[in-house]
Amino acid sequence: MAKEFDDQLMDKLVSLCKRRGFVFPSSEIYGGFNGFWDYGPYGSRMKRAIENLWWHEMVETRDNVEGLDSTVIAHPMIWKASGHIDQFSDLMTDCKKCKSRYRVDQMADPTTCPNCGSKELTEPREFNLMMKTFVGPVFDDEHVAYLRAETCQPIFVDFHSVRVATRQKLPFGIAQIGKAFRNEINPRNFTFRSREFTQMEMEFFCDGEQGMEWFEYWKEQRIKYYRDKLGFEESFMRIYEHEKLAHYAKAAIDIEVKFPFGWGELEGVHHRGTWDLSQHSKFSGQDLQYIDHDNKTKVMPTVIETSVGLDRTMLALLAHAYDEEKAATQKADMEEDVRVVLHLPAVVAPIQVAVLPQSKKLKENAYNLYKDIDRFFRCEYDETGSIGKRYRRQDEIGTPFCITFDFDSLNDNAVTVRDRDTMQQERVNITQLRRYIEDKIF
Ligand code: GAP
Repeated sequence: MAKEFDDQLMDKLVSLCKRRGFVFPSSEIYGGFNGFWDYGPYGSRMKRAIENLWWHEMVETRDNVEGLDSTVIAHPMIWKASGHIDQFSDLMTDCKKCKSRYRVDQMADPTTCPNCGSKELTEPREFNLMMKTFVGPVFDDEHVAYLRAETCQPIFVDFHSVRVATRQKLPFGIAQIGKAFRNEINPRNFTFRSREFTQMEMEFFCDGEQGMEWFEYWKEQRIKYYRDKLGFEESFMRIYEHEKLAHYAKAAIDIEVKFPFGWGELEGVHHRGTWDLSQHSKFSGQDLQYIDHDNKTKVMPTVIETSVGLDRTMLALLAHAYDEEKAATQKADMEEDVRVVLHLPAVVAPIQVAVLPQSKKLKENAYNLYKDIDRFFRCEYDETGSIGKRYRRQDEIGTPFCITFDFDSLNDNAVTVRDRDTMQQERVNITQLRRYIEDKIF
């Protein structure tokens, strides 16, 4: 379903997310907090579904990738070794007139304030993005610590422990899902650039000789994931090959997708050479080389990284899924009837199956059916309003299947299953229901 986004799409998404409980501004009753977002009931379900899908794809179905769940705050030397304390900064400038603050690389014309047009801007200066805190009772320089700016650094730091604990041999990977924090100068585009966000990263350790082969392998795997699992077609996704590489890197690509505001990075696949483990060896004094006992050799593993933002994945999915369809109206004087529908892949939809009694008189039977299938799918029970209204409510949150328990169900032990996308209805025997839905979802 290749389509052009309408200009209002971002506003519509923000409004739908708030109204239907996907995403709210954080601390809203205090006026919000720029760059921070809360995931509501449907948002948190969808978020977890995306995490589970990624985890299943990257860890559970692979013998050579292990999982990790490290702390958000760790030894500050990690960030010295990684270069974040000295180099993780953006150039910023302030407008002297209206006091707006900008990231210089995001300004179309870095000599003019985009807000008020003033030419009086401060000299660009470095602004470090690490979020600082203090650990212990004394708030001085010695007790400064940092909230992690990326989830991959603890993976490098724990590389040796994971290898010993799992007896993995090269090549193997370590994956982690978790929060990352960056004091972004200019958070914007809804959740696209936030100050607190979730990353899903996998670091694959291999012999340098096979580095480029593994880089190509992971690049293909990740593109395939977006195409086959999330349904992103060619017109929605493109690959950006980095020409300017970090001094230690051998190759890097970004998987970009079309967001309502234009193309944006969703995931990076990077060949990071031996940089990360070498740096942590140097700063910790621990030898992080891999010892190959079979060949009696020592090697500093090369790293291939896949790094994706969960919040951006969700935003991309919502933008891709959002549709407004004109429905036929019964009465000539009625306003045009528009069906808002999220064509989300069933595997990440917050609710996969809604169970609706045709009449409140059937609530007990319908509720029992709901409790039966709730064990297998993300389900919701809804008995309020007309069936038509209930369908629309489910369309708007992207529920792929609505099951109606009607009076005939009492006699034929069958229900009507309505498909969100085609709106076609099928009669399915209750004994076949689980199988019927599983075949369509998985
Ligand atoms: N370890 C490599 C790394 O962190 P990155 O390009 O800075 O690389 C990886 O971040 C991914 O994390 C990005 O592709 C994006 O999806 C997500 N991301 C980065 N900064 C973000 C922010 N401020 N808000 C939301 N997501 C962000």
